[in-house]
Amino acid sequence: MHIYVTRRIPEAGLAVLRESHPHFGLNPEDRMLTRHELMEKVQGVDGLMSLLTDKIDGKLMDAAGPQLKVIANYAVGFDNVDVAAATRRGILVTNTPGALTDATADHAWALLFAVARRIAESEKYLRSGKYSGWAPMLFLGGDVTGRTLGIIGVGRIGQAVALKSKGFQMRVLYCDETPNSVIEREVGAARVNLEELLRQADFVSVHVPLLPGTRHLLNRETLRLMKKTAYLINTSRGPVVDEAALAEALRVGIIAGAGLDVYENEPEVHPDLLKLENVVLTPHTASATIGTREKMATMAASNVVAALRGEKPPNLVNPEVWGNHRAAGR
Ligand code: DGY
Repeated sequence: MHIYVTRRIPEAGLAVLRESHPHFGLNPEDRMLTRHELMEKVQGVDGLMSLLTDKIDGKLMDAAGPQLKVIANYAVGFDNVDVAAATRRGILVTNTPGALTDATADHAWALLFAVARRIAESEKYLRSGKYSGWAPMLFLGGDVTGRTLGIIGVGRIGQAVALKSKGFQMRVLYCDETPNSVIEREVGAARVNLEELLRQADFVSVHVPLLPGTRHLLNRETLRLMKKTAYLINTSRGPVVDEAALAEALRVGIIAGAGLDVYENEPEVHPDLLKLENVVLTPHTASATIGTREKMATMAASNVVAALRGEKPPNLVNPEVWGNHRAAGR
């Protein structure tokens, strides 16, 4: 059984693989493989451990060959994998749910504070030697405590963001297809529709997966529904926000600011965003804590190992394949 890992991940995950498959393949360089390299490297593999930066489509699955049994994505999001194509080919696809919930929710809060309290801007100012003493009007920002937090999508991460608002006595609004009794009970959150949430929230934090229906959910029109004093936080997927429309909204003052960890065409960032002071930008590092990345690595590795042993991997995203898989004796 041959396993290939497209980029170095924490040792904890590699150790799990090594135990049962000592000779797994690993990209020796700490860089993303080109499409061409990836197409070559996957040939003949039974298990592929991929990253959210790897495009795993039907062509790539065919390049791997009919023996490919499992694609274990080292991420909770799996919009980089054509799951329908994998399902048609009887390939199991797994992800890492839960491992990064707190780290990502914490980062959403870090961005919220950074943009509201103008941390990046004022730090740059101080380092450049401009600070000449306390001043009544220096870097006035937005209030957080007691304000309204609007959460779009309350899966694991959105829910964690809501629960962490407790210390700041915020009123919490959320929109989701499904009611969430945990946040309703714990922080008195109220379920509203998207329009109402955007009109009322002082902070809007986005936590939806990237799906055809969520692409550009925040666009020129929906951004205009937000308060002029409100802030948008996005730690989900870049294309959920129309980046050009957001840059314009920030530039002309449709909204007060934004904190972004994800971008429409990563690693590119809209050039207009780079020029603005009222947006805090981090390089898709919301899950980047040592403990979280170790957990993600262990989970992804355990998914590959289980699948190659003929066991149902714990974090299967296309469970419908499992029955057929067994029937076909794969
Ligand atoms: C994920 O796992 O989907 C995250 O975006 C990684 O940070």
